[in-house]
Amino acid sequence: MISSKHLLIKSIYQEKVDRTPIWIMRQAGRYLPEYLKTKEKAGGFMGLIRNPELACEVTIQPLKRYPLDSAILFSDILVVADMFDMNLRFEDKKGPIFDNPIRTEKDLNKLPSDFDVTKLSYVNKTIRNIKDELGDKLPLIGFIGSPWTVATYFVEGNSTKKFTNIKNLLDNDTFLLSKILNMITTASVHYVKEQVDNGVDVIMIFDTWGGLLSKDQYQSFSLKYIKKIIESVKGDIPIIYYSRNTSNFDTLKNINIDCIGISSDNNMKTVYELLDKKISIQGNFDVEFLKSDTSVIKSQVIKTLDSFPYDTGHIFNLGTGITPDINPDKVSYLVDIVHELSSK
Ligand code: CP3
Repeated sequence: MISSKHLLIKSIYQEKVDRTPIWIMRQAGRYLPEYLKTKEKAGGFMGLIRNPELACEVTIQPLKRYPLDSAILFSDILVVADMFDMNLRFEDKKGPIFDNPIRTEKDLNKLPSDFDVTKLSYVNKTIRNIKDELGDKLPLIGFIGSPWTVATYFVEGNSTKKFTNIKNLLDNDTFLLSKILNMITTASVHYVKEQVDNGVDVIMIFDTWGGLLSKDQYQSFSLKYIKKIIESVKGDIPIIYYSRNTSNFDTLKNINIDCIGISSDNNMKTVYELLDKKISIQGNFDVEFLKSDTSVIKSQVIKTLDSFPYDTGHIFNLGTGITPDINPDKVSYLVDIVHELSSK
């Protein structure tokens, strides 16, 4: 277990810090030439994820370039599909694909009657490899998708932004939808416990598509299931909850998270105060600024830091994952300037 004295952990718990910690969503990824090389060696994204040596190697790549304050497990939220033999694959430019999406009771009945968590033992091995490399130098963030967000892919079968099929279930068959959500939740609870047992120091829950739901739907179809995952690891390690484009922040007051990750559309101070300053905030620099020159990046970093005017409780990050079109040198500048400007 990582020392509780680490900057990231201290900031999550709102303890006194010397500067604002920073890490970057998708910090290991396609904007790094060394990542592309290793991915090719592995024969593609899934080959990379399923290879504990190479997955460890790419996890460490961004840490060799930049003085980041955390590692994040190299994997994907959709690997839970492996527990149901769902044959997840990724296509360049298209993203994730399931050839047999779950849209009817019949589709669901074709899956194995029970999930098999040992199908994800390659993730456990990756975690142990990373921990061996890191020692106690840096914490390691493990993660899981919210059952709702994972379900959108299980039901749609791809990364369509229309969400026609899952919206159809929301309108016409909440019985089936709840069955799918329960299935994903039960498997996720086991999977997340494995990650903790194998050594991750923080758990992040990605609820990327929770913002599609109305307030009532959000309670019934997203939060309800997230709570079960939180309850299963709570007390063991800190939990970050990531929510994109949601207006449902006030409903989060009574869930047991330690930090909330927010996208660039939200104001950090507003969200922090809405949640009674009880949980820390991660975010929320707009990745688009990394396409500008360094003077723009600097002024926007100042703006981001100023939008959280408290001594601790801020973890600097982007509002969404970094995209393949970013120049790695701009990331280097970002990390250095955040170090410099946030030093107290
Ligand atoms: O942050 C990290 O570096 C950790 C690894 C990680 C990945 N995906 C690697 C990845 C994490 C935490 C995720 C989360 C994830 N995966 C989410 C939630 C966060 C978010 O981005 O909103 C979602 C919705 C997915 C599902 C997924 N994975 C999609 C829709 C896609 C295709 C679109 C895209 O961004 O490329 C992926 C692919 C993916 N996941 C890549 C990486 C590095 C790119 C794969 C490649 O090299 O081709």
